[in-house]
Amino acid sequence: MALPTIETVESDILVIGGGMSGCGAAFESKYWGEDLKVVIVEKAVIERSGATGEGLSAINCYMGQRYGWNTPEDFVQYVVNDMMGLAREDLVYDVGRHVDSSVHLLEEWGLPIWKKDNGEYERIGRWQIPIHGESLKPVTAEPARKAVGKENIYERIAITHLLTDAKDPGRIAGAIGFGVRENKIWVFKSKAVIITSGGASNVFRPRSVNEGIGRTWYSVFATGSAYGLMIPIGTEMTQMEHRFVPTRFKDGYGPVGMWFQYFHAHVENALGEDYTVTRDSELKKYEPYGSAVPTPTPLRNHQMFLDIRDGKGPMYMRTDLAMQELAGGDPKKMDKVREEAWEDFLDMTIAQAMTWASQNIAPEDTPSEVVLAEPYIMGSHSGEAGAWVSGPEDLSPPEYFWGYNKMTTIRGLFAAGDGVGAAPHKFSSGSFTEGRLAAKSAVRFVRDNPEQVNLSDAQIKDLSNAIWAPMDTFEKYKGVSTSDDVNPHYITPKQALVRLQKIMDEYAGGTSSWYTVNGPTLERGIALIEMLREDLAHQGAKNRHELLRSWEVVHRTWTGEAHLRHLLHRKETRWPGYYYRSDYPDLDDNNWRVFVNSTFDSSSNKWSLTTKPYKHIVT
Ligand code: FAD
Ligand code: ADX
Repeated sequence: MALPTIETVESDILVIGGGMSGCGAAFESKYWGEDLKVVIVEKAVIERSGATGEGLSAINCYMGQRYGWNTPEDFVQYVVNDMMGLAREDLVYDVGRHVDSSVHLLEEWGLPIWKKDNGEYERIGRWQIPIHGESLKPVTAEPARKAVGKENIYERIAITHLLTDAKDPGRIAGAIGFGVRENKIWVFKSKAVIITSGGASNVFRPRSVNEGIGRTWYSVFATGSAYGLMIPIGTEMTQMEHRFVPTRFKDGYGPVGMWFQYFHAHVENALGEDYTVTRDSELKKYEPYGSAVPTPTPLRNHQMFLDIRDGKGPMYMRTDLAMQELAGGDPKKMDKVREEAWEDFLDMTIAQAMTWASQNIAPEDTPSEVVLAEPYIMGSHSGEAGAWVSGPEDLSPPEYFWGYNKMTTIRGLFAAGDGVGAAPHKFSSGSFTEGRLAAKSAVRFVRDNPEQVNLSDAQIKDLSNAIWAPMDTFEKYKGVSTSDDVNPHYITPKQALVRLQKIMDEYAGGTSSWYTVNGPTLERGIALIEMLREDLAHQGAKNRHELLRSWEVVHRTWTGEAHLRHLLHRKETRWPGYYYRSDYPDLDDNNWRVFVNSTFDSSSNKWSLTTKPYKHIVT
């Protein structure tokens, strides 16, 4: 098959991914850099793309400084505790001090936020405010589109690789990808790049199997691209061993935060016991984090995990007791509570509402099952995997600062949202905020470094061939066997994905191995994933849709490999409830209250892993 045409777009700032952080980055780039050419490239359509595409029911990161609720200092303390002692205080503080104004901006743009009679925002928990959030994404995307101009938005183009400068591999020069709706390779040449292409679902085998395949908690379109793009060019990554294992309503993956905090529900095992009560003493093993309020997310999982391991399941969220208590016997009040219960899912995770409907669950009468889901690798929610970025100049010590806030170790390459490591609990609002902060910094970088970047024709030709190879492979060999899916010359993207998920599930502590790993298991997993990485060059794609899937699995595999290697490096169990190292079962603050960082060197095909100090900055 002939190679498609190649089209080149030049810009000052290129934003890869038009999700929450991407829209923030695009909007802010034009605010500070009115005269600059800012381009967004997105594999879908920014109105509905990314993890907030189907809507949200809450803004989970809001300080409420104008009401005196919390300060950014409180936020740092909360986040560090929730991460069992490990988060970059400078980065977390930076989000905390700016996030409220971002939320007010979203409200000004049309986001309906629940209000009390006195006009104050309603609250769910300490940091969370409820929204009628089905349209959060269009509300966020419209100002970004207006700011950069529709001619600068390139949608339905999947980026497969970042491009470094032909004369300086330590400097970014753009990105390359392909049109998912037309046979075209796209080259984006840019002086600065902001990577905002989201976290990773489906790296681990999900609990959902054939009948519900594709149903996961985090967006199925979050394919680890932020990591899979940055790692191969040698960007330093941090905390890639970290994962988020969400407690979720069973089968529909409905989130639980609203239920625990707003409806004040609790979970009971089959014996009617509440693990937060019966397993209270377990927390003492993990001081000082065990006594933090609220109990850190992994430790809450850990308490539930022990019940499940001891055969005390199923676990039920007592939605019935909570709703009846809130209604207090008043049918009118019950109508309101019922409406809120269903809206939570209809705004955010429609599949859970459908699961309830299909299983005859009326939450006011029927308790609803919850489980621990498969792991997700991400940096914006209760996970902290991502790039090691420079912090803000007014806060960061020299170890955490190299010139431009949110710049990675590749000059001119910035990150935000799920792409930034060691800065969790940003959620939608914080990711949007971090995108804005990265953009402000990228504008300054472009002003300080106005010279043109250099692309190599040879590199573009090689990459174009590699990008299109799965289509060529399929065309060449499709008649060799009677079934397109069974062929000695290629593997399909789906087969590659299933193979990745099997490796991760069995060797990297997924659900079937009870989240448990040890050194030899991880080493075996690394050996298998190295072979998978080689075989991915032999994928066959029937059409452009499968071509997209084949590059998504490449990005997911980089994410999985980094995860395995980091898990092997950290010789302790820091986050019980997220994962367990059976050979190092304890939390070891003396030796391991440090960040684990890695870089990949493509010329030698070798990874190196190091640690970076944890610095206490905010008091
Ligand atoms: P995203 O918003 O996911 O954006 C990534 C973008 O990159 C997408 O548009 C994607 O299409 C694009 N992209 C990916 N790969 C490529 C590629 N190769 N080339 C081009 N483009 C690419 N947060 C809250 O505050 N409150 C909540 O109630 C809440 N609930 C949630 C419920 C669910 C079910 C989910 C999934 C998430 C929830 N979150 C919530 C979290 C929130 O959605 C994320 O924290 C936030 O969206 C992360 O922003 P991001 O910009 O990093 O990624
Ligand atoms: S969601 O983002 O997909 O909606 P989830 O429902 O788990 O995720 O969490 C929403 C928010 O509530 C997050 O800020 C999370 O940390 C918080 N949260 C969830 N459960 C609890 C709990 N039991 N105690 C305190 N905070 C919680």
